[in-house]
Amino acid sequence: MDFCCQDKYGFIEAALDQRIKNRRLRRLRDVTPLNSPEIKASGRTMINFCSNDYLGLARHPRLQERAIEFIRQYGAGATASRLICGNYDFYRKIETKLARLKKTPAALVLATGFQANISAIPALADQNSLIFSDALNHNSLIQACRLARCRVKVYRHNDLTHLSQLLEQPLDNHVSRIFIVTESVFSMDGDVADLAGIVHLAKQYNAFLIVDDAHATGVFGSKGMGLSCGHDIDLVIGTFGKAGGAFGAYFACAENLKHYMVNFCAGLIYSTALPPAVMGAVDGALEIIPEMDEERRLLQKNAQYLRQCLHDQGWETGNSATQIVPVLIGKAQDALDLSGFLEENGILITAIRPPTVPEGASRIRISLSVSHARHHIDRLVELMEKWQRRK
Ligand SMILES: Cc1ncc(COP(=O)(O)O)c(C=O)c1O
Repeated sequence: MDFCCQDKYGFIEAALDQRIKNRRLRRLRDVTPLNSPEIKASGRTMINFCSNDYLGLARHPRLQERAIEFIRQYGAGATASRLICGNYDFYRKIETKLARLKKTPAALVLATGFQANISAIPALADQNSLIFSDALNHNSLIQACRLARCRVKVYRHNDLTHLSQLLEQPLDNHVSRIFIVTESVFSMDGDVADLAGIVHLAKQYNAFLIVDDAHATGVFGSKGMGLSCGHDIDLVIGTFGKAGGAFGAYFACAENLKHYMVNFCAGLIYSTALPPAVMGAVDGALEIIPEMDEERRLLQKNAQYLRQCLHDQGWETGNSATQIVPVLIGKAQDALDLSGFLEENGILITAIRPPTVPEGASRIRISLSVSHARHHIDRLVELMEKWQRRK
């Protein structure tokens, strides 16, 4: 027998040791949600600046009550994939409501954004496809491109000149279809894609356009329905686990594309349908989100205020233009130290390090919610200044 097969667990320890040496070990930590935006961690109450609950809906009574209603009526689980016997009537009702709000002919709900991404792209692309993917796309989109097993060209982040240069290059004869894949609001940088420009390029080169609207859903666009709203996009993917305050994901697209996904998207076909309680919460969120224009305005006003305060202190927030405000630090250890200092002072903000972000681009990622009051933000700003002065 080959020597390397003798210690079948050796690679686990070696990989974890390497992570420890590189100071990149991740650990799960227990937290208890209190009233938003507070959270209990390590036995202490802290202001939470790292959840994606941008509209503070995760603990909204309407979502909780609707979840209980659904669970009472339909039970705890959907019992099977939607194609077997799990297609309860509420999926269709919620999809109809969602499609109307997104202003697309159809919508389809799926288990998670990760699952939606990793199964949508392989369902659409064949081995002769060519995918153009933004350099800062979320890991689920990167995995999706790998699973598609076709050629992928990565264009510089948000650089449409680079994208059009790549699109201009002559195609090999065997290329069957081309795709452009981008996020609308980038999850780690909080900047925004030029969707109008990308739609224009997609039309010019007859490319199939896929936009991940996860961090824009609930926060931007008409009735909070995302930045994709009103743009001619072939497939929009979004989630309910962020501003939606619940869980789950959706496709918004043409009717025949929905039909295609029902037939070819493994993440829908081979997975148990979303549980009734989750869909109840989603149903509640879809009722409330369109009414929250005032909260959306306040959220962006607070983000602008926070960025201005941080800039005045000399911090860099990159091209953030949304409720996601990264403070760019550089070295992983420095980001960890800052995060530790904030935590000692009652503020929870996780340090984001490689491999989630590129080497040298470690940061703390501040994620604002409408549940943050000015005094919460001012406390954060005060501590950031203290840290700046201490260094
Ligand atoms: C841009 C983006 N797409 C997809 C996902 C995955 O969504 P979900 O958490 O529903 O799996 C995330 C989550 O972090 C994300 O940031």
